[in-house]
Amino acid sequence: MDKYEQIIGLAKRRGFLWNSFELYGGTAGFYDYAPLGAMLKRRIEDIWRKMYVIEEGFYEIETPTIGIAAIFDASGHTRGFSDPMIVCSGCDHAFRADHLIEGIVETPDALPASEIKRLIDEHGIKCPQCGGVGTFGDVSSFNLMFKTTIGPGAERVGYLRPETAQGMFVDFEHLFRFYREKLPFGVTQIGKAYRNEISPRQGVIRLREFTQAEAEIFINPSEKNHPRFSTIEGMVLRYYPAANQQDGDGVGGVGSGIIELTARDAVDRAIVAHEFLAYHLVLTHLFLARVGIDPARLRFRQHQSDEMAHYAVDCWDAEVLTDRFGWVEIVGIADRTDYDLSSHAQHSKKDLSVLIEYDTPKQVERIVVKPDMSVIGPLYKGNAGKVRAALIGLGEEDLQGDEIEIEIDGEMIAISRDLVEYETVIEEVRGERVIPHVIEPSFGIDRIIYAALEHSFSEEFVAGVTRNVLHFPAEVAPVQVAVLPLLTREELIAPALTIAAALRENGVFVSYDDSGTIGRRYRRNDEIGTPFSVTIDYDTLDDDTVTIRDRDSMAQIRVPIGELAGMIDAMIRHGFSTAATQSSR
Ligand code: ATP
Ligand code: GLY
Repeated sequence: MDKYEQIIGLAKRRGFLWNSFELYGGTAGFYDYAPLGAMLKRRIEDIWRKMYVIEEGFYEIETPTIGIAAIFDASGHTRGFSDPMIVCSGCDHAFRADHLIEGIVETPDALPASEIKRLIDEHGIKCPQCGGVGTFGDVSSFNLMFKTTIGPGAERVGYLRPETAQGMFVDFEHLFRFYREKLPFGVTQIGKAYRNEISPRQGVIRLREFTQAEAEIFINPSEKNHPRFSTIEGMVLRYYPAANQQDGDGVGGVGSGIIELTARDAVDRAIVAHEFLAYHLVLTHLFLARVGIDPARLRFRQHQSDEMAHYAVDCWDAEVLTDRFGWVEIVGIADRTDYDLSSHAQHSKKDLSVLIEYDTPKQVERIVVKPDMSVIGPLYKGNAGKVRAALIGLGEEDLQGDEIEIEIDGEMIAISRDLVEYETVIEEVRGERVIPHVIEPSFGIDRIIYAALEHSFSEEFVAGVTRNVLHFPAEVAPVQVAVLPLLTREELIAPALTIAAALRENGVFVSYDDSGTIGRRYRRNDEIGTPFSVTIDYDTLDDDTVTIRDRDSMAQIRVPIGELAGMIDAMIRHGFSTAATQSSR
C-alpha cells in the first residue's frame, strides 16, 4: 500500500472524504467532504481569509458560478480552454494525451498534438485501461468547460465557471469605484470552479468540481514594486527557475536546479520578474506552511515560456512533492498583465482604463485643428461630419503641404490645406489613462487539503504498536480537543461533560469520547489529528486538576480545571510546549 492509498483509506474510514454519489456507484472527479474534512476545509479557508482578506485588506466578493458565454468568449476559454485527448480503440476509454508521456519529456502539456502522438507511438505507450498497444487514435482537443443553457430553450448558452477569476474582472468598474479610484487594490473570491477533466484518476487532486481561493490584485503597470516588500525581503524560498529546468532534476540539493534565495535576491538577480510577484510567492509560502505543508517538500517552479498561459509575462507554480504523483501544482501565481481587462473592454465595448494622476499636473502643448465648415459642409454634405472628425484628430505633422489626406469609409480623399487652420494651446494634464495589470495568486483548496494530509501523516511505532498520526498544526485540526473520562463511570463522566461544555462555550471544537480503552481513544484522536486530549481521572475528583496530553510528543501535564480554557487557547495558538513552559514559570 503506498502513501496515497493509506491517506485516502484513512480519509474515508475516519470521515474526511467520501466518494460522491457512492450509493449509485459514484462518478470519477467528485468527492464529498465528510464531517472532519468539511471542518478541515473550513479552517484552511479561514486562515486564507485571515491572511488575504484581513491582513492584506483584499475584500471578498461572491459572483455566480454560472457565467454567460460573452464572458468566456472574452477570456478566451471558449476558444482555448482545452486539453489534448486520446481515445483507445480497444476499450473506448479517453485519456489526457499529455499525461501518458509524463516522465518522457519535462513539460508534455506544452507540446502540440502531433508531437504528443508521435511520442506515444515511439515509446509504445500502453493503454492504462486495457493494456492495448498501438490502439490509440489521433490526439484531439477537448474543451473543459461544462456547457449549460440559461432559461428554457437552447438559446442562451451559459458555462459553469472554470475559475473564480472572471467574476472579479467583470466587476472591475464597480470595484475601482469601491476602492475610491486608487491603485493598487485587491479583491478575493473563494468558491467552486468546474472543469470537465478528461480522465480524473487522482482523487481530490483532479476533480471536476473543486474549490479555488483566488486574489486579483490590480496594479499600475509602471509600479511593480510592492509597498511592503521590505517586510518579507529576507524570506528564503526554494525557487526552480525555468532556466534550470533543462538540466536539473528539481528535487533539491546540488545539481537539482532548485535554488534557495531571499525574495530580495530573487528580484535583484531577475529570477522573479518584480517585487509584486515575489511578495506573493512569499505570502503563498507562509500560508502553505501555516496549514501544514512541509516546506522541505515545497518548491516554486517557474513556467517555461512555451508553457505559460498566453496572457502571462511571468508565472510560478507552488508545487508539493507527493508520494504517488511526484510534484503537483497546488497554487499558480501569475502576472496576467492587462490581458483580461483589455479583452473585456474590447468585447463589452466599455472603456476599462483608469486615470493615474501625476503627483503634480503637467503642462502639455497640444494643437487644436479648426476645419472651415462653411466650405466643408456644403462640399461633403452627408459626409461632412466624418470629414470634420478625421481632421480634428490630426497632428501637426499631418497638416504640412498644400493638401491633407484623410480616409473616409476606406476611401482616401484630399482636402485643400486652405480649409484647415490650427493653433497651439497649453493644457494642464492631471494624469494618464492606463489599463491596470493583474497579479493573481490562484489556490486550489482541495489539492492543498490532500497535500496537508499527506505531509502531516506519519506512521510511528510506540511500545510495539503502530500509531498513525496526522500532525496538523492546531489551527487547522478539525477537532481541537478530545475530552476523555479515564473510565466509563458516572463519577468521571459528569465532570468530563461539564469540562467539554465549558470549552465549547470558549469557542473550542471539542469531541467527547468515552468508548473503549483510554489507549484506543488516544490512538483514534492521533489518527484524526486532534492536537490535545484532556483526561479526567480519579485525581480530578480530589484536586480539581486534569491532564492535557500532547498528540505529537505524547507528553502530559496536569493543570487546574480553572486554568484549562486559557491553557488550551494558548496551546492552539502557540503550541503545547511553549504554552506548558510559560505556565510552569
Ligand atoms: P493542471 O495542469 O494540474 O491541470 P492547471 O494549470 O490547469 O492545473 P490552474 O488553471 O493554474 O491549474 O488552476 C489554479 C489552481 O486550481 C491549481 O493550482 C490547482 O490547485 C487548482 N486546480 C486546477 N484544476 C483542478 C482540478 N481539476 N481539481 C482540483 N484542483 C484544480
Ligand atoms: N485563475 C487561474 C486559473 O484558474 O487558471
